[in-house]
Amino acid sequence: MIYSDKVMEHFRNPHNVGKIENPDGEGEVGNPVCGDIMNITISVDGEDTITDAKFQTLGCGAAIATSSMVTDLVKGQKIQDAVKISKQDVADELDGLPAVKMHCSVLATDGLKVAIDDYLKKNGREPLSGEIKSADPNFDPHAEEEPAEGEDD
Ligand code: FES
Repeated sequence: MIYSDKVMEHFRNPHNVGKIENPDGEGEVGNPVCGDIMNITISVDGEDTITDAKFQTLGCGAAIATSSMVTDLVKGQKIQDAVKISKQDVADELDGLPAVKMHCSVLATDGLKVAIDDYLKKNGREPLSGEIKSADPNFDPHAEEEPAEGEDD
């Protein structure tokens, strides 16, 4: 499996590792099959702008690299824009992820969505994300993998 230089860079020296004390929003998602768990905490200012984001990931290299990238990307973004970041956006920013590792990036984007919804709920507002599958302890993102190129459906 070949990882891009950017993935390796974020895996070796991940950005924004840790937990914000008294965060405005917190999200934790997991994958019961590989056992990976991701926690994302965010700070949000009065204008709905994410001023800080940190993560703790117990997981594979791709999960760490995507969490690092997501927390970089959202700083300075409005929650309404941050919630729209897709796993493909994250993979693109990392110059691609191997097909079998695409599901790992779901954890990062879902963790962020849960954190944003947590912030909104705490403030008596409606969540933005709808159903987040990996917040369900029985969800298996590996089962959703797209077949590798050239493989039959
Ligand atoms: S192997 Fe499961 S999230 Fe990466």
